[in-house]
Amino acid sequence: MEQNYQSHYPTHVADQQKRWERALEAEDFMAALIHSGSPIQSFMDDYEYDFRPNPHFLSWLPLTRHADSALLVVPGQKPVLFYYQPEDYWHLPPADPEAWWADHFEIEVVRDPLQWQKRLKKDLPDADLKLGDVAAIGDSPVLGELFDSKWLNPKGLITRIHLTRTRKTPYEVACMDASARLAARAHVEAERAFMEGCSEYEIHMRYLAACRHTDAQLPYHNIVALNANSAVLHYQHRELRAPDQSLSFLIDAGCTFNAYTSDITRTYARQPGEFAELISAMDAMQRELTGQVCAGLDYKGLHLLAHRRIAELLETFKLIKVPAEEAVVTGLSGVFYPHGMGHFLGLQTHDVAGLIDNDGNDIDRPDGHPFLRLTRELEAGNVLTIEPGLYFIEPLLKKWRDEHDANDINWSKVDELAPYGGIRIEDNVVVTEGGCDNLTRRAFAEL
Ligand code: GLY
Ligand code: MN
Ligand code: MN
Repeated sequence: MEQNYQSHYPTHVADQQKRWERALEAEDFMAALIHSGSPIQSFMDDYEYDFRPNPHFLSWLPLTRHADSALLVVPGQKPVLFYYQPEDYWHLPPADPEAWWADHFEIEVVRDPLQWQKRLKKDLPDADLKLGDVAAIGDSPVLGELFDSKWLNPKGLITRIHLTRTRKTPYEVACMDASARLAARAHVEAERAFMEGCSEYEIHMRYLAACRHTDAQLPYHNIVALNANSAVLHYQHRELRAPDQSLSFLIDAGCTFNAYTSDITRTYARQPGEFAELISAMDAMQRELTGQVCAGLDYKGLHLLAHRRIAELLETFKLIKVPAEEAVVTGLSGVFYPHGMGHFLGLQTHDVAGLIDNDGNDIDRPDGHPFLRLTRELEAGNVLTIEPGLYFIEPLLKKWRDEHDANDINWSKVDELAPYGGIRIEDNVVVTEGGCDNLTRRAFAEL
């Protein structure tokens, strides 16, 4: 695996250089200074919150913990990395650069986190930073000291770069594949822990141990939900004690590899029965949706198809008393499936540029679907999630009962299944011309 992603890295850096050169030229900049970010201190103390670098910095470099470093990109020149390696005896300084990535940069190891400012003035003596010859990319407060705010993360340049990030390079796909494999291994361990009757906290710890991640390395906070907790879409707690009876388990958890994420959800039932049958039906439906993915597909249409399929399941399992088609039109399907069907995935769990076209114009969400994060026509090289869900969410059910026809819903059936919470099944796929490569299913199958 290591060989694989490392062998693609030189081409990745060359691609990055081309992408940035084109974007800088189109937006009339001489150069870009991409800052990795600065740690945030806790108020009136000297403790630092977990640090995560600027994703634009990470798109060049696998430096997942590097604060106060900066990359200078000048068209036609090897990019210059100001590699911050302080002399520090309170914290462990970063190790020396490794050849497999470092050979592609001119590296200046710096003890002063502002060394890049001096070099910028030396390398680009004609540039007027206040006039925007150089774009600054990042959120470190130190950028504001040198750059006028207009040239900090300029929208036109950011949009162009975001659009390039929608098409993953072979290096990026290899990292995301590695991330999916790590997560699949940990998901299997989590399932085992659930079947043994463990608590949410214990399952979470087993997950971390299996993928050898700390909490801070996870791409997002794991969702580890037993029973009715799985109806809370971003459930954030981990109960220390197992419930008296573990009926169901929803786990939405990923991993990172060189900062590239996976984002995987599985749902399990402890015993055979109607909820287990509903999970199987959702699984088959999720596979059907994934089977439709290919270059040229309008993702909005796939999201709407998911609503139709979920409404059909609601009808088949007698959870609603109106025909599926009517449930989609009236919005009843949205009571059970209130989120979008997925999103781009990459250096960010909810990766960028899902809602704009290739000219940077907004693509509206369909009416009544405010949470959809991806409205584009898919292209080869996109990496995205397919994650339909079906839940018994008390506040949404109550709202329907209060504001619509309460007879649309089969309440006794809903009450029977509500203690199981809900179901979500989420895979990560790479779009190809003729279909897609399902990184998640392959990773589980090859364990
Ligand atoms: N885990 C967050 C999401 O699925 O979007
Ligand atoms: Mn997701
Ligand atoms: Mn997820």
